[in-house]
Amino acid sequence: MRLLLTLFFVFIFSFGSIAQNGTPEDYLSAAFHKERREALRASMPANSVAVFFANPVRNRANDVDYVYHQDPNFYYLTGYKEPHAVLVIFSETQNVSEGNNYNEKLYVQQRNAQAEQWTGRRLGIEGAKTELGFDNAYNGINFLNSGIDFTSFDKVMYEDFRDDYRDTRNGADLYNLVQSFKSQIQLNTSFTIENTTGDVEIDSDANMVVKTVKKDTRTLSRLMAGLREVKTADELVLLKKAVRISAMGQREIMKAMHPGMSETEVQGVHEYIYKKYGSEYEGYPSIVGAGNNGCVLHYIENSKMKVENDLVLMDLGAEYHGYTADVTRTIPANGKFSDEQKAIYDIVYDAQEAGIAVTVIGNTMQSPDAAARQVVYQGLIDLGIAKNASDARQYFPHGTSHHIGLDVHDPGTYGQLQANMVITVEPGIYIPIGSDCDPKWHGIAVRIEDDILITENGPINLSAEAPRTSSEIEKLMKKKSVLNGLELPDLD
Ligand code: GLY
Ligand code: MN
Ligand code: MN
Repeated sequence: MRLLLTLFFVFIFSFGSIAQNGTPEDYLSAAFHKERREALRASMPANSVAVFFANPVRNRANDVDYVYHQDPNFYYLTGYKEPHAVLVIFSETQNVSEGNNYNEKLYVQQRNAQAEQWTGRRLGIEGAKTELGFDNAYNGINFLNSGIDFTSFDKVMYEDFRDDYRDTRNGADLYNLVQSFKSQIQLNTSFTIENTTGDVEIDSDANMVVKTVKKDTRTLSRLMAGLREVKTADELVLLKKAVRISAMGQREIMKAMHPGMSETEVQGVHEYIYKKYGSEYEGYPSIVGAGNNGCVLHYIENSKMKVENDLVLMDLGAEYHGYTADVTRTIPANGKFSDEQKAIYDIVYDAQEAGIAVTVIGNTMQSPDAAARQVVYQGLIDLGIAKNASDARQYFPHGTSHHIGLDVHDPGTYGQLQANMVITVEPGIYIPIGSDCDPKWHGIAVRIEDDILITENGPINLSAEAPRTSSEIEKLMKKKSVLNGLELPDLD
């Protein structure tokens, strides 16, 4: 009996620990982040230092904050997901003569049992060492007097401050960290030291030695864009998963859609599928616009009670372990394109095909846009909607391609296309009510957006599992979704 009881408790205990620690194991590894820091270091100018800050905590209302999201550069280089942190990367190893060599330092949130009871576990210094692989990890408070002599570098690189954080009761919050850094790099101040030797300027009036910090707020963004625009194999695994999850959301709504659905309900179907596949967030606020609402490019109200017989433009992306998809499908709520809807849809489809065809190594980021734009403009002229190309531009007012990755609009240098870049190809036509054309076109909005991996063997459409041609869409919309059987009590 005792043995049975012991086994029972062992079972409960171990089951509990599995449940508690049963988090996914396919996050980017500490080795990935370390290798990315090495890659950045290799691209840094000699005798330079780069300083990165964690994203601010954003307040939603009163004592409720938005779900925290790390700054993508910070996450890329560290894997650290908590706020109030600083990363310092040196181009060369420091302190060689005195031993205790280092070429990077991470300052993290201090552990605090009371705070952790409310908001969850913090990694702290030990976690930063053992789980993230930083040999030189410190509490944030130590950054306030970091002892780093920023005057000794030929470049101190950081991204310009947006100054959009709050000062809280935490003495080492982002506000304090940034204020301290500003003072350490003498921002807006002249920092004067007596009797100093080295590469210095002499202020002859005061007869003092003046050491200046050589600040640079431009180079770092460019270096990071150069790294992040080409995805590593580890990143592609996560990005492909985010895109496939998003395509599955599009497939399910094609089956579930009916004219009585609200825009919010459509959004909910996509986001439910995302969660079911383990996606933590949406990569950006979901866009679901029926009819004329689709003409607002980033329509996120999603407040129309019934999508009726309109086209429904759905631009949504799952975020999986930080990586976000960006996929748009536009479908007829009643399952069949009207003649006008189909005419516009098919132009956008042809434009997208033309854009994807030129998404090849050696072309530029502008190539898909030029190819798609030509098809859209000619199509609009042929239908009599636009008089000429410059008139047509109003109906296609955005670019065709951007990188995706940790950001939905991921940084890039926007030069030549290279293998292992992932970019969107997303032409659209938007004809708002009141446009200067036959009213039969009014309120039609179509965008088709796919996520394209560039390879040595040509473009691969990562979101191809979501049907794209008008006939494939109509075919899938004839099928039933299990969600059609979901019945809930009427609350009225
Ligand atoms: N979802 C935003 C965009 O397509 O760029
Ligand atoms: Mn996009
Ligand atoms: Mn989009």
